[in-house]
Amino acid sequence: MQRGIFNIEYSIFIFFHAMTNRDTLPFKKIDTSTTIVIVGVTGDLSRKKLLPALFDLHRRNALPKKFRIVGFSRRDWSDEGFRQFASQTLLPDRHHHTDGELKVFLRHLTFQEGNFDTPDDFRALGKKLAAVDTEMGGCSNKLFHLAVPPDLYGLIFINMARAGLNIPCIGKNEGWIRLLVEKPFGKDVKTARHLDMQLAKFFREEQIFRIDHYLAKDTIQNILAFRFSNMLFEPLWNSRSIEKVVVELYETDDVAGRINFFDGVGELRDMGQSHALQMLAAIAMENPGTTDAAALRQARIAVLRQLAPLTKRTAPASVVRAQYRGYRDEVGVAKNSQTETYFQLQVNLRSKRWRGTPFFIEAGKALHHSKVKIKVFFKTSESCFSCPAGPHEHPHNMLVFRIQPEEAIAVHFWAKKPGLKMELIKKELSFNYGELHDGHTPDAYETLLFDAIRGDQTLFASTDEITASWKYVTSVLKNWSAVPLQTYRRGSAGPKKKLI
Ligand code: BG6
Repeated sequence: MQRGIFNIEYSIFIFFHAMTNRDTLPFKKIDTSTTIVIVGVTGDLSRKKLLPALFDLHRRNALPKKFRIVGFSRRDWSDEGFRQFASQTLLPDRHHHTDGELKVFLRHLTFQEGNFDTPDDFRALGKKLAAVDTEMGGCSNKLFHLAVPPDLYGLIFINMARAGLNIPCIGKNEGWIRLLVEKPFGKDVKTARHLDMQLAKFFREEQIFRIDHYLAKDTIQNILAFRFSNMLFEPLWNSRSIEKVVVELYETDDVAGRINFFDGVGELRDMGQSHALQMLAAIAMENPGTTDAAALRQARIAVLRQLAPLTKRTAPASVVRAQYRGYRDEVGVAKNSQTETYFQLQVNLRSKRWRGTPFFIEAGKALHHSKVKIKVFFKTSESCFSCPAGPHEHPHNMLVFRIQPEEAIAVHFWAKKPGLKMELIKKELSFNYGELHDGHTPDAYETLLFDAIRGDQTLFASTDEITASWKYVTSVLKNWSAVPLQTYRRGSAGPKKKLI
């Protein structure tokens, strides 16, 4: 059962029509009883993404008939405390549900108090899971979602294993165990490898689901559907016709409230190593020719391995890093913190197809607007008809993938301005994804949780992808200290000096 993405009709049907219809699921759902354990359930991720996604899946009848959600955290909550937290999170106006729907969902929630560094607390979690199994009438599948800062992963893997939580219902040949881990997976190549080694001691690769939620965004998947199902642009998809590609990830939110996670990690590890490079891979990859998970991952890996590492010599012309003013006043941030909240990079690919076409990736917090898009700039026409004089005036065509907030694809082209004179005017042909349906577009986390329960790893990053992207990012981290850290005003377009 594969997630298909190369056929427009199929994508539209699967990702819009099917998920908008409560009774029609895109794939056959798994119906063996399943327990979802959220480790770090009181955090931001669980509140903003996981609980809403699970609730929406439940409302769409997409979770197994018998399921439980076990919250695990240090808080001394009862089941009731956890349910109250969840119901406040799932405010009616944000999630358009009825009270009845919420009540039914909350009944599936239960809580276990525990410290991540205390082996006994993991044993207590094991007992709780056994009690939940008894309640559901047998050994259930277990999906552990680690919604905690990544520096706790190692400790949690070990404590899970000590408590036997990596083995499905000891003594019974039933159920599976899967593990969902968030990015950033490690801080550089070395730490990512170390984490992988720790994981490999207790889990097999098919049990590990490494999340980069951008891979599951409909509009990112649509890049592949668009590229590989249409003849229109693919023949031009190379450095002969494409001048440059620009990937932009702008956010208005600052990092107040997330300092514990963000300081010392920074925007490049947070958004660059994962989301921005995966977007680049969707633009640059070769056609895998099949929707098979392994083939798709292989195509992504091939691009990530072609990233030309940064060197001391290339860094000054290829990097901008900056921090918004006021960042160092946040509680817990050192007065001389060098953590970047913005970066821009020129990335080159060592492949025949892309030699000579630079990719620019840019991401930042506390910027003037929240927008994510990819702009593909085509070269100017050599024999431009009626072009203004001067090569800089020559019109470019541009293809824009707008990922969020509005989801659209637009082509900028030139036409004759109506009138007696032969003059050019810039126009746009566009397609707005939202117009295709009037229902619910699944959030990336809904798709990811649904796929993890089905055991489909297509939209999860493999260990080779992670290693390849860390290799590139580590080369940047090693060499960018030569480039001064600029500052920028909150709510602005970022630092003054940029690459483009
Ligand atoms: C997360 C980052 O992976 O993605 C956050 O850790 C960022 O810093 C978020 O805000 C952005 O995701 P989205 O889906 O809102 O664009």
